[in-house]
Amino acid sequence: MTFEEVLETRRSVRRFKPDPVPAEKLEHILDLAAWAPSAMNSQNWKFIVIKGEKVEQIRGISSRAFKEHVKKELEKVFEKYPQVIEATGKYFKTLGNAPVVICVYRGETVEGLIPDVESVAAATQNLVLAAHSTGLAACWMTGILPLADEINKVTGETGMALQAIVTIGYSAMEAQPPKRKKGRIEWIGWD
Ligand SMILES: Cc1cc2nc3c(=O)[nH]c(=O)nc-3n(C[C@H](O)[C@H](O)[C@H](O)COP(=O)(O)O)c2cc1C
Repeated sequence: MTFEEVLETRRSVRRFKPDPVPAEKLEHILDLAAWAPSAMNSQNWKFIVIKGEKVEQIRGISSRAFKEHVKKELEKVFEKYPQVIEATGKYFKTLGNAPVVICVYRGETVEGLIPDVESVAAATQNLVLAAHSTGLAACWMTGILPLADEINKVTGETGMALQAIVTIGYSAMEAQPPKRKKGRIEWIGWD
């Protein structure tokens, strides 16, 4: 795949095959994630890579996050599309049977000066693109964040903030590309 193809064909995948993912493959995409730019080169991220029983615990937390938080938000936005709410609920309940979940944590730049959301997002983007380019599939998720404290109990992380989780595995679906919105670019001084 060319770089352009990687960018255009990556999709959020919400159904995975049960096949295990080799640790070496995950190491490779995590190395690529770490090539992201970061504020003051802080590289202030941490990825906790989980499989097995603790993934089941995260599935339980995700399911509760949907019932307690995500559902009512979706009902506001997708009032006319109950099928979207239903499909999302199913995904949060099962995490698409993903065999691996990566919890993405954020530290702070210089002595707590700036919460470094953007650098960690850049690394997460690298991660999902690298996953796609190496034949894996992923879904970046923040809907579980209202229950971050519970995820932290599973991972044992105490010093950093949970910024996202990423479900990873081999895709078991053909994800359709959602339309890209127009009118998001403005040109100045090009006449
Ligand atoms: C910051 C962020 C948070 C997201 N959170 C969720 C989530 O909680 N649950 C989910 O199913 N998808 C989540 N997504 C995936 C988006 O829904 C998805 O990227 C968007 O619909 C576009 O689809 P595509 O990734 O296939 O292009 C998230 C994506 C981003 C970048």
